[in-house]
Amino acid sequence: MSFSDSLPVTHSVPGPNGGELLFGIPCLEDNLAWGLADTDGGVLLVDVPEAAPVDRFLRENNLRLERVLITHGHRDHTGGLHALLRSHPADVWAHPRLGLKDATAIPADGGVFTWKDYEIRVMDTSGHSDCDTSFYLPGPALCFCGDTVFAGGCGRLFAGPPARMWASLLRLRALPDNTLLCVGHDYALENYRFGSRTFPDMPVFRETLKTVEAEADAGRIFAPVTVGGQSRSNPMLMADHPETAAALGMTGAPPEEIFAEIRSRRSAG
Ligand SMILES: [Fe+2]
Ligand SMILES: [Fe+2]
Repeated sequence: MSFSDSLPVTHSVPGPNGGELLFGIPCLEDNLAWGLADTDGGVLLVDVPEAAPVDRFLRENNLRLERVLITHGHRDHTGGLHALLRSHPADVWAHPRLGLKDATAIPADGGVFTWKDYEIRVMDTSGHSDCDTSFYLPGPALCFCGDTVFAGGCGRLFAGPPARMWASLLRLRALPDNTLLCVGHDYALENYRFGSRTFPDMPVFRETLKTVEAEADAGRIFAPVTVGGQSRSNPMLMADHPETAAALGMTGAPPEEIFAEIRSRRSAG
């Protein structure tokens, strides 16, 4: 079974008018297009890796696309946008530096805008690309974080020194523990295998790997994940933990250097 045949992630979250639907649609090799459907059937969508699976999900669930947010400019997050808009017209909001045609500019870092009754806070979480935005919705406690953080890992460092990404990860880690992180890719198996291998004396990675494997065997994607859970089980978010530093022989080193070491070991396989 290919990834795009996996079942969409669905999750009920509290909304202003009752239970609302959070969903994650598998696209391409391992991308997730996330959305929030309110009780009227209106949808806020985040990123469009490809149009067909999103179109199918909207039709099958009788949902109406209203707004699209874009986390960053990589093709695997925007490639389906224009095809989707042809069959599902909606307004697009994105960072002006992405240069997306007809898109409304989101506010700068720290700014707030709304979709219906939802407050959406803009967080600059760059470091994977030169312009990464995470969208935090404090009401339902959701954060759409693109390729900044993944279950058990984080995005590649395509823009700037590791300290830039480390600062972005710290901002996400500072969100309330119950916040659901809606991550842009499903790399959980590879990430927790890496964590188990790299930190054999820290049981949390092995234990989480067992859970991820059980979910995968049941055909389920290990997402969304919580800020609290990730702050205790994602090695990229644990660079300032004494145990992590000790395991790498880096006790006393600055956290951004420890983070850089973990990230480069992950890239090396
Ligand atoms: Fe990306
Ligand atoms: Fe991506």
